[in-house]
Amino acid sequence: MKKTVLITGACINTGVAIVEKFANEGYDVVFTGRNLDSVSTAEKQYQEKFPNIYIKGYALRSLTDEEVVDEKAVEDLFEKLDKDEVFIETLVLNAADQGLGIKIFENSLSDFMRVIHTNVVWNYCLCEHAAKRMKKNGGGNIVFVNSNTAYRAIPDRIAYVTSKGGQLGMMRALALDLGKYNIRVNAVLPGMIRTDRWEKNPEFYAKVPSKYTPIGDVADGKDIADAIYYFAAHARNTTGAELVVDGGNTIQLYPIIPEE
Ligand SMILES: NC(=O)c1ccc[n+]([C@@H]2O[C@H](COP(=O)([O-])OP(=O)(O)OC[C@H]3O[C@@H](n4cnc5c(N)ncnc54)[C@H](OP(=O)(O)O)[C@@H]3O)[C@@H](O)[C@H]2O)c1
Repeated sequence: MKKTVLITGACINTGVAIVEKFANEGYDVVFTGRNLDSVSTAEKQYQEKFPNIYIKGYALRSLTDEEVVDEKAVEDLFEKLDKDEVFIETLVLNAADQGLGIKIFENSLSDFMRVIHTNVVWNYCLCEHAAKRMKKNGGGNIVFVNSNTAYRAIPDRIAYVTSKGGQLGMMRALALDLGKYNIRVNAVLPGMIRTDRWEKNPEFYAKVPSKYTPIGDVADGKDIADAIYYFAAHARNTTGAELVVDGGNTIQLYPIIPEE
């Protein structure tokens, strides 16, 4: 059976690079985004770029209007894939609520919970439904797109940082519980990634502290996609592992600031 990868949040930025990596490697690709129009546009662009590869997009929101995890939508997606005889051998959990600007004394508990619900609970739900099929089919693997903020905090992102730390614990627990079914679970930890936000706000990104690393540059989406692909396709004996892709940012006590 041909291998199929499911990539969440793959209409823009890093998700696009991940789709392109797996398509280039000959995988069938299923991807999600929240908005049906964006999904249809992305699907058309992918199909034009990779005419010989099966690429299908689905609109999938993490939360209901009441801001709880939409478990029914996940169930429906996997039932649809079962009906179409699509087996997800690799699950890449890329979508994330960035939880920007959440401040302890200014934001409500529901703002904090919204981020945790998407980044931890929804991802758990996706893992549960995917792993059930992987177990039945003799194995598979799951890759979290995590963050080096799981190790080191950044300001006004308390819900995001908490969620990425929680994700790492969940990744290890899943690796432990699912290993006996030949299901591997790993995490890629990017530092800053070049995205469309760089084009929208070039002044901020010209001086962004994450650039001050031993390598002296931030990652492109492709750097992250390569690391994910390593776990998915080459790391037969690796589970519960973390691969940091941040130009060496996290190893520093002080950032290397180049002289003017
Ligand atoms: N960019 C960085 O510098 C950086 C650094 C470290 C780690 N990361 C991690 O790398 C991954 C990709 O980053 P990125 O910057 O490329 O992401 P991004 O541009 O923020 O977009 C990722 C996707 O997440 C989806 N998403 C956002 N909120 C969602 C929600 N509530 N429910 C479902 N989907 C949601 C978006 O879907 P829609 O298309 O539907 O809006 C989007 O396609 C994320 O896990 C992020 O935490 C990024």
